[in-house]
Amino acid sequence: MVQELKADGKTVALIPTMGALHEGHLSLVGQALGRGDTVVASVFVNPVQFNNAADLETYPRNEEADFEKLRNAGVTAVFAPSVSEIYPEGTDAPAPVFDLGEVAEVMEGRYRPGHFQGVARIVSMLLRMVEPTRAYFGEKDFQQIAVIRRMTQTEGIDVEIVSCPIKRAVDGLALSSRNALLSDSQRAVAPGIYRNLKYSVQYSRDHSVAAVRDTVTEAIDALEDCRVEYFEIVDGITLQPVGSWDEAPYIVGCITVYCGKVRLIDNITYRPLKD
Ligand code: PAF
Repeated sequence: MVQELKADGKTVALIPTMGALHEGHLSLVGQALGRGDTVVASVFVNPVQFNNAADLETYPRNEEADFEKLRNAGVTAVFAPSVSEIYPEGTDAPAPVFDLGEVAEVMEGRYRPGHFQGVARIVSMLLRMVEPTRAYFGEKDFQQIAVIRRMTQTEGIDVEIVSCPIKRAVDGLALSSRNALLSDSQRAVAPGIYRNLKYSVQYSRDHSVAAVRDTVTEAIDALEDCRVEYFEIVDGITLQPVGSWDEAPYIVGCITVYCGKVRLIDNITYRPLKD
């Protein structure tokens, strides 16, 4: 199907997901349709990118509802393979090792060993199977996009990686499949993550990188049931930490917070990327 569409001069989008779809995923579909792409979505909870068995076990799943949302959103085809279709040798069999460079070593790479190798493995397989013109990813997973870009370069996969703005609930919480796991009281405090990130952009005008990092971390740690795992202020291209605001033209703060047992990630741009 994809080859025929492309031979006809059409562009094809792949939207890889792990299901439990929300408006953030559907906005990726909207962006792809808006560019005139025929959209293929995948729904696959990829076991090899989970470094924590409980996280995989509790990951929200709702395939029937996902299929309906994708159909209503205008997706042409959905690929929802089983684990044994993707990993016929089993998930513990020897796996390729991807050269993901320094962008994969920090933050999620440090706190979730093996995570990005698992992401690279599934995304490279999906890209090779579907051969899309473009693949769309949400910027909530800011580091993931950098890692996938690197992977497509080192693997020689010819695809445009499109990064799409974070979708937020009206109270500012970044939409995530994991939000469904929050208790009512955790859901009520979780918007404090973005509130503090947003406030810190103004604060960064006359405070050092270290002061911003410490202030945000303390404020979010003070929210009930919340614990910051890391908050790094990094060069938005290399993802390496910066020590001052003039160290890189593009600077982003990336945070991971445990709300109870639920791990939430978010990010904020301090100095935007200029064309
Ligand atoms: O961002 C996700 O949902 C996953 O990491 C992805 C890209 C679908 C790969 O499993």
